[in-house]
Amino acid sequence: MVKNIAVIRGDGIGPEIVGEAIKVLDRIGELYGHTFNYTEADMGGCAIDKYGDPLPESELKKCTDSDSVLLGAVGGDKWNDVPGNMRPEKGLLRLRAGMGVYSNNRPAKIWKQLSEASPLKKSIVENGIDFIIVRELIGGIYFGEHKTENGVATDVLKYSEEEIRRIGRIGFETAMKRNKKLCSVEKSNVLDSSRLWKKVMHSLADEYPEVELSDMLVDNCAMQIVKNPSQFDVIVTENMFGDILSDEASMITGSIGMIPSSSLGATKCGLYEPIHGSAPDIAGKDIANPIGTILSAAMMLRFSFDMSDEADAIEKAVSEFLDEGYRTADIMSKGKTLVGCKKCGELITGYLSKE
Ligand code: IPM
Ligand code: MG
Repeated sequence: MVKNIAVIRGDGIGPEIVGEAIKVLDRIGELYGHTFNYTEADMGGCAIDKYGDPLPESELKKCTDSDSVLLGAVGGDKWNDVPGNMRPEKGLLRLRAGMGVYSNNRPAKIWKQLSEASPLKKSIVENGIDFIIVRELIGGIYFGEHKTENGVATDVLKYSEEEIRRIGRIGFETAMKRNKKLCSVEKSNVLDSSRLWKKVMHSLADEYPEVELSDMLVDNCAMQIVKNPSQFDVIVTENMFGDILSDEASMITGSIGMIPSSSLGATKCGLYEPIHGSAPDIAGKDIANPIGTILSAAMMLRFSFDMSDEADAIEKAVSEFLDEGYRTADIMSKGKTLVGCKKCGELITGYLSKE
C-alpha cells in the first residue's frame, strides 16, 4: 500500500522523537512492502517564527490532504509572550478542529516491564492498570469564546447534545470492543454542560444494553485513578477533564513519555501524537523518550490504515526493547541500561520483524 503521511515535527523534543518514529515506519514499509510518503508541515512555535502564524492555511491543507498526520509536540517558553490566539498551542487546536477529529483515545496501560516505574504502591499496581480515556477533543472550554476585558477574563464552556452524542457513541463502541464497562465523567453537581452530558450518555445506554454505564464526578475520578485504577475499562469525558485526567493516568503507568494517542473524526484521516508536551528543557540533548510517538505511529497503522499486523509488530518490538532491559532516562531504574532517544529508536527498529 502507498500512504501519504503529513509529518509535523514541531518544537522542543518534537523533531527528535518524530525522527525515531519515521525510522520505525520506514522499516515497517520495507518488511511489509508498503510505501510511506512524508510531507513535512510546520506548526507551533517554528511556524510562528517562519510565517508569524502557528498554523497557516497552507500547512493545515497539507494535513487534511494526507492519509493521516504524525505529530511530535509544540510549544515552548520562547513563545510565552505571544498573544493567546497566536500561541503555538493554538496551532494544535486549529489543526484538531480543522481535521474534525473530535474523538481522542488515550490508553493508560502499564507495561509489565515497567511496573517498578509506577509511583503507585505495588499492591495497587498488581491489580493491573489497563484503561482508555476517550476525550472529546474539539469542543468545550477549549473552543468557547476567550476574552479579557477591563480586568475580567472569560472562557466559555459550551456543549451541544449532538457534540456529546457523537463522542458518547465512541465511548460505548470502545467499551464494546473491551470489557464493556463505560464510566462517564463529569461535574454535574455544578455545571449545566455536565448535566446535559450525563443526560445524553444515559439516553445512549439503551442502544448498548451490554455495556455497563456508570457516572463519576471528575474530582472523585481523579482520586479513584490513583486509589483503584483497575476499576476502569473505558472513561469518556469532555475536553478539559480529559486533558487533566489523561496526564494523571499516564503518570501512574510509569511515564507520560510512553503514552500514544489517536484522534479521529468522521473519516479515516487521523491525527497521531504522544500525549506529552515539547519538553524544551531536554530538547536537543538526545535524552527524550520516543516511545510515545513510536506507539502513536503504530496506532496510525492500526486505526487509519487497517494494518494491524504491522501495528502489532511495532508494539512487540517496544516490548522486546523493554525486555532486554533498555530504558530511556524517564523510565530508568536500577540495573537497567540507559539509552538516548536515537539509540532507543534504532534498537526498536532493529527488533521489528514480520511474523
Ligand atoms: C494535550 C496537550 C494540549 C491540550 C495542549 C498542548 C494544547 O496538553 O494534548 O493534552 O491541552 O490538549
Ligand atoms: Mg494535556
